[in-house]
Amino acid sequence: MAFKNLEVKIEEGITTLTINRPQVLNALNRETVEELGKAIQDLGDDENTRVIIITGAGEKAFVAGADITEFKGMTPVTALEFTRKVQSVFLQIERLKKPVIAAVNGYALGGGLELCMACDIAYSSEKARFGQPEIGLGIIPGAGGTQRLSRLVGKQRAKELTFTGETIDAAEAYRIGLVNKVVPAEKLMAEVKSLAEKISSKGAIALEMAKSAIEEGYDLDLYSAHALEAKAFALLFATEDQKEGVSAFLEKRKPLFKGR
Ligand code: COA
Repeated sequence: MAFKNLEVKIEEGITTLTINRPQVLNALNRETVEELGKAIQDLGDDENTRVIIITGAGEKAFVAGADITEFKGMTPVTALEFTRKVQSVFLQIERLKKPVIAAVNGYALGGGLELCMACDIAYSSEKARFGQPEIGLGIIPGAGGTQRLSRLVGKQRAKELTFTGETIDAAEAYRIGLVNKVVPAEKLMAEVKSLAEKISSKGAIALEMAKSAIEEGYDLDLYSAHALEAKAFALLFATEDQKEGVSAFLEKRKPLFKGR
């Protein structure tokens, strides 16, 4: 898996994807979005990957948004093509059967915040800053930002961030529920890896069912969402991992899940 703007490191079940264009604060050009989509697709089927971490190269940025240089000369037709592409890659992350963790090491602006919100869990460095600054360019978020932000932090906070384009610091992002945890910059990757290891020791099929029940049930009415949860719960009784988990508990030992 070799890419121009994306570094892929696979180690003991945990794969780290680093968006690697530090000279432009890891701004997402079309090529990088394509590469991210391809990597996510491949890692979904990769037996050596149980959990994925997404981060940005360099000290300064996670992702500082879409590559603004590509907006010059864009027509409504190419803009539609671009927004649909980025949306589909971020939806792909959200619907991937494996957990994806954002390690927000710096600016998460525009598409960077939208990428962070598409991940299942986000840990942030104390130095990170978050925002949807598109309004300052005469546009609006186009990679799910108008939808995921309001769902995560509520409509009024989403509107304030989107209407003003102002950035907030990591402590405020944590306070309003945009990230799960804030840690000192130098500890970020160790903390994220430790979380990834904890998650990767669980059963892969149970993780897949948990993620899909939460994602697919989120926009359903409560009754339909409960029905979906019940089926996912029941299906897990067909797995070896379920038998191992229960036996290990009763035998007072640690379970060894095999993802079967
Ligand atoms: N697209 C393209 N290039 C970008 C970029 C983006 N989204 N964000 C940063 N860059 C480039 C800058 O143009 C600059 O390039 P240069 O060295 O050739 O001049 C380089 O990355 C470093 O950025 P710079 O602006 O000099 O850093 P800074 O510390 O002064 O400011 C930011 C950092 C994040 C506040 C500022 O870069 C910024 O506002 N970026 C745009 C954020 C944005 O609007 N994102 C949403 C896009 S839809």
